[in-house]
Amino acid sequence: MKGIVLAGGKGTRLYPNTISVSKQLLPVYDKPLIYYPLSVLLLANIRDILVISTPQDIGNYKNLLGDGSRLGVSITYTVQDKPRGLADAFILGADFIGSDSVCLVLGDNVFYGQYFSSILQKAQQQAETHGAAVFGYPVKHPEAFGVVEFDDSGKVISIEEKPQNPKSNYAVPGLYFYNNDVVEIAKNVKPSPRGEIEITSINNEYLRRGRLQVTLMGRGMVWLDTGSPRGMHKASAFVQTVQDMQGFYVSCIEEIAWRRGFITTQQLRKLGEELSMTEYGQYLLSICKEN
Ligand code: DAU
Repeated sequence: MKGIVLAGGKGTRLYPNTISVSKQLLPVYDKPLIYYPLSVLLLANIRDILVISTPQDIGNYKNLLGDGSRLGVSITYTVQDKPRGLADAFILGADFIGSDSVCLVLGDNVFYGQYFSSILQKAQQQAETHGAAVFGYPVKHPEAFGVVEFDDSGKVISIEEKPQNPKSNYAVPGLYFYNNDVVEIAKNVKPSPRGEIEITSINNEYLRRGRLQVTLMGRGMVWLDTGSPRGMHKASAFVQTVQDMQGFYVSCIEEIAWRRGFITTQQLRKLGEELSMTEYGQYLLSICKEN
């Protein structure tokens, strides 16, 4: 399975923070926001990754992440010249995806929770055998998201994008698993009233074909919204709290690459030494000793 991180957009809801800096490069506590969705792909054992961003910002992502070899993965880059919508990821990424299945994670989504690896593994299997796998996550204000509608028996009957009157409080987080049909489906999506080619249209097409799995995430999973300065601040506070209390780092891409066996202990130590002036670097050096 291939992986795409969509890290473009204008980030207008975070102005003036994002006038000259891409949103997904802003810090969430001690690391850039994009580390969090990237960590999801690494956890899912996905090693072939495409980062999509704007013409202005793509160079900064290359400076930050390079070709991925430091993490034992391949990272390539594509420019999205304007924010046409999330479904554009599969049109821009068509050559990269080739004949493979694909996971899309939005560059501003943060996930954390126990058993997340097995949730990811199951979703990958579902997409490969069934067609598509997405999630439902309970939120207080579903109107800001894609929202799942269920019938009386709990069966999913539709997904609505930012509905004024949400039919449930289950939002669809920015983490999507698809088989290869997604490329053809994306190419046929018509722009919505707000002028975007919506991921929700893709999900509804899979649903129409009887090929969409929606797994509900429970209390044990954390999905954080970074769509506002308040959301960014809360996400930072969450990461700091967990790291300070437990001593385990949240979404540390170097640690995940090492635990997944993408890099050796020697490589991890080198990464830690480069950052040894920070607590982050010290953490990498400390986990090297686990072996
Ligand atoms: O976060 C989950 C939600 O993400 C879903 O529940 C919605 O169904 C989905 O439409 C999306 O809603 P948002 O309004 O939050 O999407 P937003 O426009 O903020 O874009 C999400 C990320 O993707 C953000 O990091 C910017 C980036 N992006 C967005 C667009 C439209 C791009 O890179 N290119 C784009 O064309």
